[in-house]
Amino acid sequence: MKSNAILKGCVGVAVKKDAPRIVVQGGGRLAGELSVQGAKNSILPLLSATVLCQGESVLHNCPNLSDSDAACRILNCLGCKCVREANAVTVDSREVLNTDVPKDLMREMRSSIVFLGAILGRTKQCRLTFPGGCELGPRPIDLHVMALRKMGVNIEEEGGFLNCNAPKGIHGAYISLALPSVGATENIILAAVTAKGTTEIQNAAREPEIIDLAEFLNKCGAKISGAGTGTIVIEGVEKLGGAEHTVIADRIVAATYLCCAAITRGELILKNVDFRHISAILPVFEQMGCSIYTYNDNQIYINAAKQLHAPYKITTSAHPGFPTDAQPMFMALASTLKGTTVFVETIFDNRFRHAQELRQLGAKISVNDRVAVVEGVERLIGADLEATDLRGGAALVTAALFADKTSTITGISHIERGYDDIVGNLQKIGAKISSN
Ligand code: EPZ
Repeated sequence: MKSNAILKGCVGVAVKKDAPRIVVQGGGRLAGELSVQGAKNSILPLLSATVLCQGESVLHNCPNLSDSDAACRILNCLGCKCVREANAVTVDSREVLNTDVPKDLMREMRSSIVFLGAILGRTKQCRLTFPGGCELGPRPIDLHVMALRKMGVNIEEEGGFLNCNAPKGIHGAYISLALPSVGATENIILAAVTAKGTTEIQNAAREPEIIDLAEFLNKCGAKISGAGTGTIVIEGVEKLGGAEHTVIADRIVAATYLCCAAITRGELILKNVDFRHISAILPVFEQMGCSIYTYNDNQIYINAAKQLHAPYKITTSAHPGFPTDAQPMFMALASTLKGTTVFVETIFDNRFRHAQELRQLGAKISVNDRVAVVEGVERLIGADLEATDLRGGAALVTAALFADKTSTITGISHIERGYDDIVGNLQKIGAKISSN
């Protein structure tokens, strides 16, 4: 039996024989309809927000992800009771006994930093490590720290830990963010809802997940206005109760399945998704030559003609611009379009790692710092690939659906952080895909 290294045709890069993998037999056309899962980047701050609630909350449409499971484990470590039943998670946070988040759980996901604001808001102290998560370049938290210090929190870094406390309580502040950081906006909101006085955030992030968080917290008794705009005002209240809430659909998962349909020149109906949340993405599909129809406020239909052409340039930017999280899957799609596409990544330092793996399939991509130039090719050929981050892994699945022959993708734990049963969903619309 030849070693995987030889089979892969390149010495020294053996595919680990027994690593869990996704196997894709590419070349088929996808067609059908899918319902979109709840948003990973919404359920995580929502679960964190329950720490502030002195009561029981129920979050519906919770996706089944390793990241949401990790968030539930953090809640249980803090003394909350977090129970999942089907697509709903119930959190009883009457008792919050601990203020330290264990190192292993903090390392599991980047977004664990969003627990900082909630734990401080509830207990006025917290000890946690620097966040883990995707390898997208440095993931600083200077804006989080700057803002919380302005609100009266003492934050000392010691041996990779952040030791935080607010002996005089947390008070409102005027905070102007140097850039519209999603996580910093969420942490400020979570620390401000029970602070003394009013907090105003200038240059706040405007993502739909921010609106979802504010809507849940207002149901719990918070007084937040302006979510979804660049200026958010939070009037501190004494106490929050629990509430029921339905998590918004995952706009990046929606974009992913649309890319899968487009790359196979197929057609797809997506249900339970707010098309306004991806209003910067839909015109790009039309520029390529796809037909896009939206209806009933929560459905999107895409039909990809045989001959699609490159959309020339895609520049990522903060919402409502083209989302950085959709860039990897669009790069996979662009690799198969007639013409050249220029990608400019303005959000993260190192978000083209998937280019190297896409080249294994025959994609023609050149990368220079934050600019990638993709020259479309007529054919991609299946290969052994390895996912290095969440959306990069989704890009490899997308490209493998187009590639002739068979592709295997390892590192699927990255993909499972954000996609609820991507294999089962793609099988539903005709993909020859399996995981083992
Ligand atoms: C959230 O990450 C999302 N994650 C990311 O999605 C998404 O790509 C990102 O927002 C941008 O939209 C979650 O919501 C769990 P940021 P976050 O703070 O909050 C810099 C995915 O694939 N920055 O808006 O970490 C930072 O380095 C993930 O689902 C500072 O400089 O993103 C980055 O360059 C990937 N200092 C930029 O801002 C800070 O204190 C945007 O970061 C904070 C951020």
